[in-house]
Amino acid sequence: MTADTILGIETSCDETAAAVVVGATRVLSSVVSSQVDLHARYGGVVPEIASRAHVELLAPVVAQATIESGVADSDIEAVAATAGPGLIGSLLVGVSAAKALALVWDVPFVAVNHLEAHLYAAFLEEPELELPIVVLLVSGGHTMLVHMVGHGQYRMMGSTLDDAAGEAFDKVARYLGLGYPGGPAIDTLAMEGDPSAISFPRAMRDEGLDFSFSGLKTAVVNHVRKHPDVGAADVAASFQEAVVDVLTLKARRAAAEVGAKGLCLAGGVAANSQLRERLLDVCVADDLQAFLPSRAMCTDNAAMVAAAGWWRLRDHGPTPLDAGADPGAGLPTI
Ligand code: KG4
Ligand code: ZN
Repeated sequence: MTADTILGIETSCDETAAAVVVGATRVLSSVVSSQVDLHARYGGVVPEIASRAHVELLAPVVAQATIESGVADSDIEAVAATAGPGLIGSLLVGVSAAKALALVWDVPFVAVNHLEAHLYAAFLEEPELELPIVVLLVSGGHTMLVHMVGHGQYRMMGSTLDDAAGEAFDKVARYLGLGYPGGPAIDTLAMEGDPSAISFPRAMRDEGLDFSFSGLKTAVVNHVRKHPDVGAADVAASFQEAVVDVLTLKARRAAAEVGAKGLCLAGGVAANSQLRERLLDVCVADDLQAFLPSRAMCTDNAAMVAAAGWWRLRDHGPTPLDAGADPGAGLPTI
């Protein structure tokens, strides 16, 4: 089944987002309302606050997305929403709204996997992207290397055994008193620091394609305790260098292993300036195509949900209206 004009809805965490996308590639509108200010004082996302905020924000965000798209409601051919993974209360707000709209407009509802949506962000800006590729998906909740063999065909090559890369950024930033979200704060502060000032561990460097970041966070805490006068910028730069080193090394290894045509970044941590720079270097050195989605496409948005929904609808048809949300959903692999 195909439907060209799709309304996408994203409410899996702390961004309330809606977008109208045509044919999985042409973004007519993409509205993201961040709740970051509501959660900042708690140092992280508070699930109960997030779901309440989605209830309040979603209707105006959907209205803005449809108005900005210039498309009449009657021209929307399907409604796609993130159904997992994510915070259950937050997911249910988006899924319920999407089902209600699909019912009222008499169009299909499509449940979308949030991780699959992140994989599709690159296609919105690079529709001609040639498969197979290896995607390094790094967000607040996930760190994985995915072999994208074809559309809807994914093979998991490696993932984190403990903390996600974004989680490590957030925890270290909180420890350094840099606030929330930690990734952008460390990214900015690291520009003033020396990345070789402190030699933090590169866990599992020589072992396969899995990652581990919890030891690195502990190493940062121990170093600061032992050297209370150390400059925060040097700590931030050295920590970031350790994370980026491991991520790029393993992405490069994964691409070589499967003979990928390109390497692609996805997820919130893909907004990191150092990671983007280093991944480009790797691609030049190994003659790979590099796909670095814009920062807006790396972090949570609904355009990527609509794009993934387009492919899911084409290959698997609509999702029944009695389907629920799945907070622990993994990436559907072959
Ligand atoms: O994909 P995303 O928006 O939400 C999840 O699905 O998790 O990713 C959010 C994560 C947070 O941990 C945030 O600190 C991190 O992405 N992040 C960054 C940067 N911008 C966002 N990490 C490092 N450098 C950045 N510039
Ligand atoms: Zn995400």
